[in-house]
Amino acid sequence: MPLLKLSPEDQAFDKAAKAAGVNSGDVVDAQANAPQMASGGGGKGGSGKPFHKRIGPDGFAEALTNGLRAVWRNMTFVMLLTLGTNVLILSIPIYLFQISDRVLTSRSVDTLIMLTVVIVGAVVVQTILDSLRRFILMRSAVEVAAQLGAPILSAAAHASLHGGGKEYQTLSDLQQVRGFLVSGTLISFLDVPFAPLFIVVIFLVHPDLGMIVVGTSLLLLVIALVNQKMTAKPFAAANMAQSRANMHLDSMSRNSQIINALAMVPEAVRIWGKDTAASLTEQVRAQDRNIIFASLSRAVRLLTQIAMLGWGANLALYGEITGGMVIAASIIAGRALAPIEGSIEGWNAFLLSRAAYGRITDLMRRSKARFERLVLPHPEGRLDVERLLYVPGGTKQVILNGLSFYLDPGETLGVIGNSGAGKTTLGKMLVGSILPTSGNVRLDLMDLRNWDPRQLGECIGYVPQDVQLFPGSIKNNIGRMRDDATDADIHRAAVLADVHDMISALPHGYETMVAADGSPLSGGQKQRVALARAFFGNTRLLVLDEPNSNLDAAGDRALARAIQHAKDDKITVVVITQKPSLLKVVDKIMMVADGNVALFGSRDQVLEKLAERNAQNQEITK
Ligand SMILES: Nc1ncnc2c1ncn2[C@@H]1O[C@H](COP(=O)(O)OP(=O)(O)OP(=O)(O)O)[C@@H](O)[C@H]1O
Ligand SMILES: [Mg+2]
Repeated sequence: MPLLKLSPEDQAFDKAAKAAGVNSGDVVDAQANAPQMASGGGGKGGSGKPFHKRIGPDGFAEALTNGLRAVWRNMTFVMLLTLGTNVLILSIPIYLFQISDRVLTSRSVDTLIMLTVVIVGAVVVQTILDSLRRFILMRSAVEVAAQLGAPILSAAAHASLHGGGKEYQTLSDLQQVRGFLVSGTLISFLDVPFAPLFIVVIFLVHPDLGMIVVGTSLLLLVIALVNQKMTAKPFAAANMAQSRANMHLDSMSRNSQIINALAMVPEAVRIWGKDTAASLTEQVRAQDRNIIFASLSRAVRLLTQIAMLGWGANLALYGEITGGMVIAASIIAGRALAPIEGSIEGWNAFLLSRAAYGRITDLMRRSKARFERLVLPHPEGRLDVERLLYVPGGTKQVILNGLSFYLDPGETLGVIGNSGAGKTTLGKMLVGSILPTSGNVRLDLMDLRNWDPRQLGECIGYVPQDVQLFPGSIKNNIGRMRDDATDADIHRAAVLADVHDMISALPHGYETMVAADGSPLSGGQKQRVALARAFFGNTRLLVLDEPNSNLDAAGDRALARAIQHAKDDKITVVVITQKPSLLKVVDKIMMVADGNVALFGSRDQVLEKLAERNAQNQEITK
């Protein structure tokens, strides 16, 4: 039974991790990976064991199907229970009907006792069934969250490679769907299909009464449709404004220092306030209408019951039905109409959840299943870049224009060029954080796209232009947040990057906690920790994007030493820089202009050419 199969949280999240493809015991070499399973991470080179754990294929569509299948399985069971509860609920009106029409006329105490015993049993069973379905729904909701949470986050992270990162919102969509699964609205939705059952029973009591209920149901339906039409727009507008306000709040929290320094607090608050006020205004408008229609439908329901009692009494006067039947029919009518009313009230929640669900399926279906890749031998670091073209999605601006070059393993390339020439874009492409519109980047002749992503990540080191560290200790940051990072590896990376001395000078050393904004580290210190992070593991390709923009003379020297270490280790290095001092340690220099190679060659050749050009320019200006 699905209900009993459900597990405590840890088990649920274990499942989630599996669904995300984080753990895929069936495709990995179990022995080599056994100690690493729990961490979900891999090993590192040099230990004789496979240097990393392969990630299984990310079957996002499959994860979605599995998640949904679990829900549907539970739903079938819930529907059976719902059938039970709805049939059993008829016992109360039947009891009433029997008492007034049979017991009171026959004056039989025995019948009364027997009836009561049966009814009490029915009510107890009904209550149990009802709670049972709520238990199952609640667990289904947890199951959905557990099964889909990790795949959605994983899909969102992959999708953000192409998008702007708003895919992460899909995780809150999952919350919405989960909330709906435990809401009273869903219970009402489930009960609605049984309304006809009650109506048939009322018809059996008397067709007139049945007609009243049918009429009312139709009226309630009309009210529901009008309500939906009248509130959809303001609710949508309210939600839009709310998400704008939230986005603004998020950027405020990220830029809190700038906001304070530039005294932008009033403006920031005003912008947030405007969106929030807009959201609240629309909310009030929508809720006003919603309340009116909800009250209307409640009034209709009460009036229906009065109409049934009145008309029923009239029929009783003519002897067509008994008094007990009238009251029983009225109770059944209330029972038939309640779920309809509940559905009307919860309609907006349903729409929101449906939209959220749509976004989830869209993300999961759009995310390509990532095939399992062959784990290749550890690369040597040969880098081939062929006719790279980059036109960012939605623009016509060509940022990289057919750029090609290649580097032998262990070579060091300095990339220079004006601001906006496309150096950072090239750097991102070399590490695979953006994909070229056309052209290839190959590491050891294999296109980056065809590498097993985890293996590729482990042999790449990258220091981006705007360094961001993760909240955690310096130790964790250097170890790329991996549980299986050993102290020796972290120390080795720090020594290679020549930052061990700097870290030792900090009051808490490697255990210094770094906040999301990088405090308490200075800009230069952050860059140097990021350099150590780049050296962690068995890096074969190192891409440094202006790693010295915040460094002092000592930092510059340390960086030069780090690059020398990389060279000694035969690591291929691409270093983007504006400072001539760093060019002393490189083998080759490439000058980028307008997204293409303007100059490429050994250091001395290029420097000579540049000096010649400078001399010519000076001649001209003279
Ligand atoms: N996603 C994008 N969409 C549109 N244009 C972009 C995008 N990314 C970069 N650009 C444009 O590409 C050009 C090159 O940017 P890039 O960051 O690569 O320059 P850079 O050479 O690193 O400059 P700097 O030395 O200032 O860091 C710029 O004109 C920038 O506006
Ligand atoms: Mg740049």
